[in-house]
Formats: sequence, structure tokens, C-alpha cells
Amino acid sequence: MHIRHDGRVALVTGAAQGIGQAIAKGLQEGGARVHVADRDARGVTGFATAHDLTAHVLDVSERKAAADVVHAIVAREGGLDILVNAAGGVRGQVGRPIEEVSEDDWRAIFQANVDGAFWLAQAVATPMRQAGFGRIVNIASGAGLRPSLTGIQAYTAAKHALVGLTKQLSQDLGRFGITCNAIAPGFVRSNPATERQWESYGAEGQARLVGSIHTRRLGTADDIAAAVLFLASAKAGWISGQIVSVDGGRS
Ligand SMILES: NC(=O)c1ccc[n+]([C@@H]2O[C@H](COP(=O)([O-])OP(=O)(O)OC[C@H]3O[C@@H](n4cnc5c(N)ncnc54)[C@H](O)[C@@H]3O)[C@@H](O)[C@H]2O)c1
Repeated sequence: MHIRHDGRVALVTGAAQGIGQAIAKGLQEGGARVHVADRDARGVTGFATAHDLTAHVLDVSERKAAADVVHAIVAREGGLDILVNAAGGVRGQVGRPIEEVSEDDWRAIFQANVDGAFWLAQAVATPMRQAGFGRIVNIASGAGLRPSLTGIQAYTAAKHALVGLTKQLSQDLGRFGITCNAIAPGFVRSNPATERQWESYGAEGQARLVGSIHTRRLGTADDIAAAVLFLASAKAGWISGQIVSVDGGRS
């Protein structure tokens, strides 16, 4: 089976870091015209320039700005077939006792991981419906299915919310040829925050983590991208509302 995306137009958010970048590159290799978006202007424009993609500097939590980016892509390309919501993460936070979490910290994580995915899904729904085809893939987390390795309450709650949103969007949009699925990645050393997290485990903790993974290795951004590329393809047209754990198997 060949997974191709020829002629498709894709938008990948969170593409200033590892997982979003691996997904964008994979879609481009599959023949899609790829737009990338991130609030990190330097990161996303540098990546786009290096790989001949189109960059959008966007804070996905701003509803109007998110809609404007979608409208600009549709005006230029004639449609938008694939949306991958990879923006999110822990926004520089670490696990803390519940009493120490500020309102701003709580909201920043929800805005990045949940609000943005909804604003963008809302904006792409009309063009995808008109085309009778759409693929929405949300990058959730193992923290969307169980407590988080990070210990960050807002992150766990936000990723659980993203899992719920994925199921609801699937029910709402499936009849129009639009599927919506989520990937729940295991731990991937894909950004400075995960590097710090990995270091903090120490040799013993690292061995324990790897030992709890059935395949006995950490995953890579390309492992996550591979599942996204399939769900974003025409071949995955009868898979919707699913949360696919890509984590090497966890004990
Ligand atoms: N790395 C892991 O171990 C892991 C595990 C499970 C899930 N995830 C999820 O995978 C996705 C990609 O993670 P990653 O490790 O590549 O990088 P990451 O978690 O550092 O962040 C992803 C990107 O999102 C961008 N971003 C954050 N808030 C934004 C906003 N409001 N608007 C626009 N962009 C924003 C950041 O600038 C960054 O480039 C995230 O959603 C993350 O939660 C990662």
C-alpha cells in the first residue's frame, strides 16, 4: 500500500518543533502542498525556508487569527484538505503541587492544546465540507488517556479534552467525508522541555522508562509522523473518532 498525499493541501501547526516538523516533512514527501504554523516566528519561518514550505506565524489560541490563516490558505490553494493540530505541549511548565499552579499557567496550556485545535477545526470545516473530503488529526498524548509523566495537571486535563473533542468532531463531520482522529504519542525527545525531562530521570529512571515500553526503545518524531501520514491519507477514510496510541506499547 502506497500512502500518498498528491494534490492535497495541508496545514500543520506546532511546526517549530520536532513532531510537527516530522509530520510536515512527511506530508511534503507524500506530494502535499504544506503550510506550517507556530507562534515561534523564528522557528517556523526558519524551518519553512529550509524545506520550501509556507510559514504562518500564528498563535492558535486567537480565534480570528486562526480563521484568517485558513482563509488565506484556501484563497491561495483553492482548498485545505488536511489539518494536523500539533501545537501544544507544556508551554515551558513543569509539574508542581496543585496549590502552586496559577490561573495563567492553567489557561496557557488549555489555550495551546484545546482552544487552538477547536478554532482551526471550526475554520476548516466549511472548505472541507464543500470539497466532500477532509482529514483532521489531533496530536493528543498518553496524558490524554491517563495521568501524565510530566505531572502537569493542566496538560493532562487539556489532552483529555482534546481526546473528547476528537470524538465529537468525528461525529459532527463524518457525514461530510471529513474524518477526525487523534494520536496519543508516548515520550519522545523532540524539544528542549522533553530533553530536560529526560535528564531529570537520571540513568535509573531512564532505564525504568525504556523498560516499561514493550519495544524497549523511545519513540522518535518520525514514529509519530508515520501514523499521522496514514490517518491523513485517502486510505484511512473509514477510520474516524479513534485515538491511536503510538508509544511502543506500555506496560
Ligand atoms: N514530545 C513528547 O514526548 C510528546 C508526547 C505526547 C504528546 N506530545 C504532543 O506533541 C505535540 C508536538 O510536540 P513537540 O514535542 O514536537 O513540541 P512542543 O511540545 O514543544 O510544542 C509544540 C509546538 O507548539 C507551539 N505552540 C505552543 N503553543 C502555541 C500556540 N498557542 N500557538 C501556536 N503554536 C504554539 C510551540 O511553539 C512548539 O513549536 C504537542 O501537542 C505535544 O503536546 C509530545
